[in-house]
Amino acid sequence: MKTILTLSPAAELVTECLVAVVLDRSEKDKGNKDKPEAFLSADKAIQQSAADLISAGDITGKTFEVAWLHKPAGLRAKRLLLIGGGKAKKFSASDLRKLAGAAVRALKPRTLRSLAFVLPDGIPAEEAVKAVVEGAMVGNFDPDTYKSDRKDQNVESITVVATGDQTKLQRALDEALILAESQNLTRELVNEPSNRMTPTILANRAQQMSKETGLKCEVYGADKIRELKMGAFWGVAQGSDEPPALIVMRYEPAGAPEKPVLGLVGKGVTFDTGGISIKPADNMEKMKYDMAGGATMIGAMRAIALLKPKIKVIGIVCATENMPSGKAQKPGDIQTAMSGKTIEIINTDAEGRLVLADGLCYARQLGCTHLIDAATLTGAVVVALGYANAGIFSSDDAMYQRFAQALDKAGEKMWRLPLDDEYKDQIKSSIADIMNTGGRWGGAITAAMFLKEFAEDTPWIHLDIAGTAWMEDNKPWIAKGPSGIAVRSLVEFARNFGN
Ligand code: BES
Ligand code: MN
Ligand code: ZN
Repeated sequence: MKTILTLSPAAELVTECLVAVVLDRSEKDKGNKDKPEAFLSADKAIQQSAADLISAGDITGKTFEVAWLHKPAGLRAKRLLLIGGGKAKKFSASDLRKLAGAAVRALKPRTLRSLAFVLPDGIPAEEAVKAVVEGAMVGNFDPDTYKSDRKDQNVESITVVATGDQTKLQRALDEALILAESQNLTRELVNEPSNRMTPTILANRAQQMSKETGLKCEVYGADKIRELKMGAFWGVAQGSDEPPALIVMRYEPAGAPEKPVLGLVGKGVTFDTGGISIKPADNMEKMKYDMAGGATMIGAMRAIALLKPKIKVIGIVCATENMPSGKAQKPGDIQTAMSGKTIEIINTDAEGRLVLADGLCYARQLGCTHLIDAATLTGAVVVALGYANAGIFSSDDAMYQRFAQALDKAGEKMWRLPLDDEYKDQIKSSIADIMNTGGRWGGAITAAMFLKEFAEDTPWIHLDIAGTAWMEDNKPWIAKGPSGIAVRSLVEFARNFGN
């Protein structure tokens, strides 16, 4: 999608569709006299042209409510699309991001291919430009790649109508574009089914992206995984005929300090059958998105390479299938991880933590001083937090605080869960150092406790995105399917981490 910035007055824009935001200015109190009080957050010309629509109550400002006006008086636009943004008092950049997505998704099924979005008041202009471009790009993505009667309904261009310092606004727009395109790359990778997204194909895509953005990228196969003594990763990979891939992407800009070195480690299980502890058939098809953590890191590395923060970042993806076969590992087996720790395999379906254990260890060996992993790790995190929040865990409060700021900037939601020592008892093994499952209770936490054993004393954050990497339903602002969650936050974190 083409993105254009303009500082000209909205009334003068010749466009298929001008989009403006209507907010609700009423204050909710306990009584039931909470009549919405619609307020069109745009310039005078637009307000005048939509005055009747608003006074008639055709639009009240409720979130995602829409009203169309053709041939709006006093404007050169062919249409005016008003879109409700909810309560004015609470309106945030994160809401604006969704509105932009909703506007694009309202246009897609129509024949409209371009729009001009008028920035509402109340949000600093650079932040608003960024939100609108990110939201629009994310809204423009649809996962229906394999429908043979697929019509390309993509919106081709968006003009952002803003006021302010043109250079700064243009920079905000350019950065937003990089972030959103990277998030959509992640979504594209996650969307592919496992027969079209094997570990080898994922590695090729990482290499292709690295070539385009100037990253160094190495891909290692089974021999190297065994040579590195990655017994936990190999334990999972050994059961599949599809070769595994250890993907290492390096961003080492000239002039970056020796430290810190940020390590981004992703779970790249391209299909998770559960292995010998096989999953039930119902919903197993979803397990094609079990490589979302890995795809997240590929998307994040792309944005980092293009935004060029002055800090070293290494991205690692442990890609494999988890299959049952005559060569597959079995419950009761003991694997020796790269760190030397021995693991009793209780359930071969707890494979994500196994591949990440060696990924984290390898990242430390490569010199990473700070670690973040992302993984569709547990069903338990979905039980705990549902679909609205990803789970976040950290062994380091200062690092967590910085990540929380990045989440806020990116408009993504995660909820911190604990890592108290008490939980470690659940993964003690009687015959090895550790077990790969900790029983039914606190399953997301015991999985994180397992990873902590391999992050050791390196400051570390774990993102469990099992409930958030795949949208279960269409939303006004985003299609059902891969969400690309965490990409923007990871990049915001990396950009500020050097400072
Ligand atoms: N990939 C799954 C987790 C998952 C579940 C992702 C639902 C997305 C949606 C993971 O490998 C897994 O199977 N975890 C098990 C762990 C259990 C065996 C301890 C789980 O959560 O059931
Ligand atoms: Mn599993
Ligand atoms: Zn899995």
